[in-house]
Amino acid sequence: MNNKKEQIILAERPTGKPDINTFKLVETESKQPENGEVLIRTFYVSVDPYMRGRMIDAPSYVAPFELNAVIEGGAIGEVVESKSDQFQPGDVVMGGYGWQTYYTAKESEIRKIDKDIAPITTHLGILGMTGLTAYFGLLEIGKPKEGETVVISGAAGAVGSVVGQIAKIKGAHVVGIAGSDEKIQYLKEELHFDEAINYKTTSNLENDLAKACPNGVDVYFDNVGGEISDAVHTHLNKFARMPICGAISSYNLEGEDIGPRVQTTLIKKSALMQGFTIGDFADRFPEGARALAEWLQEDKLKYQETIKEGFENIPDAFLDLFKGNNIGKLLVKVAELSQ
Ligand SMILES: NC(=O)c1ccc[n+]([C@@H]2O[C@H](COP(=O)([O-])OP(=O)(O)OC[C@H]3O[C@@H](n4cnc5c(N)ncnc54)[C@H](OP(=O)(O)O)[C@@H]3O)[C@@H](O)[C@H]2O)c1
Repeated sequence: MNNKKEQIILAERPTGKPDINTFKLVETESKQPENGEVLIRTFYVSVDPYMRGRMIDAPSYVAPFELNAVIEGGAIGEVVESKSDQFQPGDVVMGGYGWQTYYTAKESEIRKIDKDIAPITTHLGILGMTGLTAYFGLLEIGKPKEGETVVISGAAGAVGSVVGQIAKIKGAHVVGIAGSDEKIQYLKEELHFDEAINYKTTSNLENDLAKACPNGVDVYFDNVGGEISDAVHTHLNKFARMPICGAISSYNLEGEDIGPRVQTTLIKKSALMQGFTIGDFADRFPEGARALAEWLQEDKLKYQETIKEGFENIPDAFLDLFKGNNIGKLLVKVAELSQ
């Protein structure tokens, strides 16, 4: 068989906003699988905001991407050749092998996914990393109670859209903050959020939040940080909980993100602010995935995906995350499923 494959590599470490020069598409050879290995043809790859953090050479909770090496991340594909007893040609599998059209994987690097419970793309979104992030961040740190008010920033994205729906399942008054009228309509009409605010068009976010949260804010699920979060902090109730999931507004800043100090607010409100990464809950992933799948099957959870087509468009799709060009999980379709 033709053993050429394409990869997108990190061509330079960005300062400020990454651009098209941050990445380079290269052609290389696929390695033939040896015993205990399989060759995978990629169908979908995930693009995620956390990848921005891995593009700089600084210590974090995951190692930086290496220069001139493939960008790693969630991917789904089909086994096309197998030298493994555990995987057969035709099996659909996922792994963290990233932005490449083919990959030769060791058995330990991949797992089979069930094509029958939901479309395979959901394993990169609502039934995968972003769904689990919403589930554990909200329920283990936010701990919403019936009748409480939950505010979510980045509310129409992959994580935020699931957080709001779980908060509704738990009986909360749910308020989303997002960056377009289309997103606001989606949150209110499709996902039944109680209120949604467009932070890009409001003349006064603090006032809009006061109207949307007449009883104050008990849980703030923070995906974005920055000035949006500063505005939410002014409405916290006593004993508010804030899962700090992401701070996308600061990922492309060249300097420090300067803003109000939060300590006094936290003291006055006896409030909890807790950062987390999804890896903190790794031993409980099966429980979270089961709950999300059940809610999906019972139609208590809905999801939307934004799917861009074409391997060469992966960098553009990644940059779209910072322009807000996605509703729900942003994925790139690299090849057609064979059946
Ligand atoms: N802690 C963890 O383990 C973990 C796991 C997954 C994700 N995360 C974090 O969770 C957040 C959401 O991730 P996701 O995968 O669900 O992405 P996403 O929300 O699907 O996509 C990113 C969204 O962020 C918004 N955004 C971009 N720039 C912004 C800015 N300057 N200010 C405010 N909003 C901005 C855009 O929506 P608008 O149109 O609304 O601006 C964009 O659509 C990110 O911060 C990510 O790093 C954390």
